[in-house]
Amino acid sequence: MDLKNRHFLKMLDFTTEEINGLIDLSLRLKDEKKKGISQKSYLAGKNIALIFEKTSTRTRCSFEVAAYDMGAEVTYLDPSGSQIGKKESIADTARVLGRMYDGIEYRGFEQTKVEDLAKYAGVPVWNGLTNESHPTQMIADMMTIKEKFGKFQGIKFVYMGDARYNMGNSLMVTCAKLGMDFVACTCREYFPEAGLVQTCQDIAKETGATVTLTEDVAEACKDADVIYTDVWVSMGEPDEVWDKRIKDLSPYQVNAKAFSYAKPSAIFMHCLPAFHDLNTTIGKEIHAKYGIDCMEVTDEIFEGERSVVFDEAENRMHSIKAVMYATLG
Ligand code: CP
Ligand code: NVA
Repeated sequence: MDLKNRHFLKMLDFTTEEINGLIDLSLRLKDEKKKGISQKSYLAGKNIALIFEKTSTRTRCSFEVAAYDMGAEVTYLDPSGSQIGKKESIADTARVLGRMYDGIEYRGFEQTKVEDLAKYAGVPVWNGLTNESHPTQMIADMMTIKEKFGKFQGIKFVYMGDARYNMGNSLMVTCAKLGMDFVACTCREYFPEAGLVQTCQDIAKETGATVTLTEDVAEACKDADVIYTDVWVSMGEPDEVWDKRIKDLSPYQVNAKAFSYAKPSAIFMHCLPAFHDLNTTIGKEIHAKYGIDCMEVTDEIFEGERSVVFDEAENRMHSIKAVMYATLG
């Protein structure tokens, strides 16, 4: 696998071999870290810009810790800390930062912005989440699946909830590329966009994957190996959508009933943050308004023995390390 000087913008840009290469590199880097093997020389002397136009806990911390572990320095620009898009275009920003930094992470709204940044920067650009895709999360998620099951082929992966946004899109593409059986289980309005579904079905023919869309929870979760969900309302979406989302997506909550159809060995995954209790401001507001004490996943499943969400969160750091090392090292 040679990804040197490549951008990391969306999963469709990578072959099955390249994705597997990144997953295996992530596992190797995790093993090195656990054994206390120094990685300081891997990116020694490199400078990295982290641009966040939306908030973050995992992605920002993963990029920072990964960079420090590998000997690189970082500059963090928060949603109010730069001129991007307000006084300066993406193209101009890219050409300025490309003169100073060896690599640029960008989290924002439209995918076209990160694509533009990549077009003009002259250095590798990594997508830290857009409305349409979340590729660094994919390497962490698949790394976690490989740790738990040792394989991808034949794994039945069910995604419940809003399947037409960044997580649903990226998981469908990644599962298709890795030969998995992907099921989006949600109401029709939240199915991924038809063109992308077709692209994934074409990929699936080559890899042995399957791509299924269904509204039927029992059928979707039958013999599932992985049940995955994400928040019902994503960053940047207006508060007005809560009413309809709760109404539409409540039947697709990940709960004991959904898991009752799955294999006994099935695991629960979530990119986080999750609304599984009342210990958040939004959780409390939603409870006051709608009387519910969790949303996309029950606390029982989130805290239960099938949940691997914190392994997944840890793996964000190891896999982001792999993405930076493969493209810059
Ligand atoms: N999963 C994820 O991207 O988390 P953050 O929004 O905290 O970075
Ligand atoms: N769909 C979520 C993912 C968060 C990691 C969002 O965009 O807010």
